[in-house]
Amino acid sequence: MIKLAIDLGSSVTKIFRADGGSGIVLAEPSAVAVDGLTGEIKAIGKDAKKLVGKTTEYTEIVFPVYEGEIRNGRLAAEMLREFLRRVNLDSAAALRKTEVLFALPCGASEDIRSAYTALAEECRLKNAYYAEVPYLSALGSEAVLSESDPVFTIDIGGGITNIAVLSAEGIIAGLSMNIGGNNMDADIADRVEKVKYLRIGALTAERLKNEIGSLSSQARGTSVAEGISVTQYRPAGVSVQACEIADCISVYFDKAVEYALYVLKGLPAEVAAAVNKNGAYLSGGLARISFAAEYLSDKLGMRVRTCPEPQYAVITGAGALLRDKKLFRTLALPLSE
Ligand SMILES: Nc1ncnc2c1ncn2[C@@H]1O[C@H](COP(=O)(O)OP(=O)(O)OP(=O)(O)O)[C@@H](O)[C@H]1O
Ligand SMILES: [Mg+2]
Repeated sequence: MIKLAIDLGSSVTKIFRADGGSGIVLAEPSAVAVDGLTGEIKAIGKDAKKLVGKTTEYTEIVFPVYEGEIRNGRLAAEMLREFLRRVNLDSAAALRKTEVLFALPCGASEDIRSAYTALAEECRLKNAYYAEVPYLSALGSEAVLSESDPVFTIDIGGGITNIAVLSAEGIIAGLSMNIGGNNMDADIADRVEKVKYLRIGALTAERLKNEIGSLSSQARGTSVAEGISVTQYRPAGVSVQACEIADCISVYFDKAVEYALYVLKGLPAEVAAAVNKNGAYLSGGLARISFAAEYLSDKLGMRVRTCPEPQYAVITGAGALLRDKKLFRTLALPLSE
């Protein structure tokens, strides 16, 4: 049996092979370049993302998974089929003996599940299961899941934030909301245009966030951004300081805090006591922003831990779940009943 975990992130698709000794076998942008006139696919994954903001009006770069939901079923299926091909899983025989586990947002609605069911069918994946992100992020962060010691997880990705308190029995309280790195990138682009009179593209804004984005009030980083001057109408570059874009990031972390406090507010007293003792586990690409854990720890008044590669916590946790038969039976559910 081939065992595959798939996390179709709003920004990055990750695939983990859990049979044998493999691990993460693919991590590529969830992007497809499409000819707007003919519908023909021109590039998928990193080759498509490189083209963001650089194509002619006839080519569109589509991210088929948006804010954690499959928004374009056809392109999501084309993209996943290509990714499966890249990990050498394209023969009907191989797909037939593949068990696949999808990472779905916390509280995944029926609509979301049926979009994934259709996707699995399109990709000829018959043995398809799903588990909710908070379990996977907890497992990938090496939190110990038990019935008596609840775990609090926060995963902030490109398009969605998942927050939950859970135990091995189930999610005690949790939610997902559509905020993430993409909102920060858009705000950074607006900010640079407003204060530096330079229009920058989404890739440049994302690079600024990742290079100099910080949640420390002492942040001193600077980086050069290039784009088009809106005063002189020609290509230009400016230097951007961390403090100039800091609140484009903190505003969304503050929203995450607001939702986290909402989740914590309704906890039964003993669960709250365990959370207070154990603290929170932070994962997702945005956990890599400097001082993310410290910032959240300060605002939530508890210890916040993050693992060395937080953007891979969910997929690593999904791989671990596929390898643990007993836990798989309790936490993974079939996509179609
Ligand atoms: N070093 C870094 N510092 C800050 N942000 C980063 C860094 N590296 C990646 N990111 C951001 O993390 C986000 C991607 O994270 P992740 O892979 O967890 O998202 P995803 O799983 O694709 O999306 P989602 O879970 O929201 O559907 C992007 O916004 C990316 O720019
Ligand atoms: Mg994710």
